[in-house]
Amino acid sequence: MSQNEAKRLAAEKAIEYVEDGMIVGVGTGSTVAFFIDALARIKHRIAGTVSSSDQSTERLRAHGIEVMELNNTGDLALYVDGADECDPHKRLIKGGGAALTREKIIAEASEKFVCIIDPAKLVPVLGKFPLPVEVIPMARSLAARQILAFTGGQPVWRDGVVTDNGNVIIDVHGLSITDPVAMERELSQIPGVVSVGLFARRPADVVIIGGEPPRLL
Ligand code: A5P
Repeated sequence: MSQNEAKRLAAEKAIEYVEDGMIVGVGTGSTVAFFIDALARIKHRIAGTVSSSDQSTERLRAHGIEVMELNNTGDLALYVDGADECDPHKRLIKGGGAALTREKIIAEASEKFVCIIDPAKLVPVLGKFPLPVEVIPMARSLAARQILAFTGGQPVWRDGVVTDNGNVIIDVHGLSITDPVAMERELSQIPGVVSVGLFARRPADVVIIGGEPPRLL
C-alpha cells in the first residue's frame, strides 16, 4: 500500500471520533488534508472547526466548512492532527510543516487528541526526523548555539521559511531523544524559542496508524 493511501485510511478512521455538534480542532499536513476532505462529507453535522494553519484554513473554507477562533470557542472536545514521528508512548515530533506552535496550542486546549499517521512515522525512539523549533527571528543564532550546547544535535536554519506567526524554524539533526519530556521542557526555556516540536508533555491520546484495517495505539 502506498504511503498516501495509508494516510487516507488513517484520516477516514478519525472521522469516527467526530460527534454531532462538535467544534473540531484541525491540524496541518498531507494526512490532515485527507481528514479535511472526509470532514467535508459530514460538515452539516459539526458546529465548526478551529484551524492550526493558514494552509488548513484555506482547505476548510474551500469546502465551505466554518473556521472559528480558539479565543471564542473555549476548549475543544477533539483535535485531529498528523505527526512526523510517533513513539510507543504516543509522544510525537511535529512541525515538519512549520505549524507546530498553533498545533501545540490547539492540542493543549483539546480534551482528546487523535493523531493520524502512516506506519513509516512509528519509531522506537524519537529524533531521527530533525526536531523543529520555532524561534523569534532575532534569537535565531543565540537559540541555535544554546540548542547545540544542550542537545549536542546539529541545529540547521530552515532557510526561506517564515511561519504563520512570522518566526523562523531551526531543525535539530542527529538526536536520539530518550527523555522527550525533559528535552521539551529545557528547550522551551531558551529565550526566543516560541515552541518546540516535541509533543511529549501533552502526547496524543489515540494514534491511528493507517492500513487495511487501521491499527490503534
Ligand atoms: C505540521 O507542522 C506537522 O506537524 C504535521 O503534522 C506533520 O508534518 C505531518 O505531516 P504529513 O501528514 O504531511 O506527513
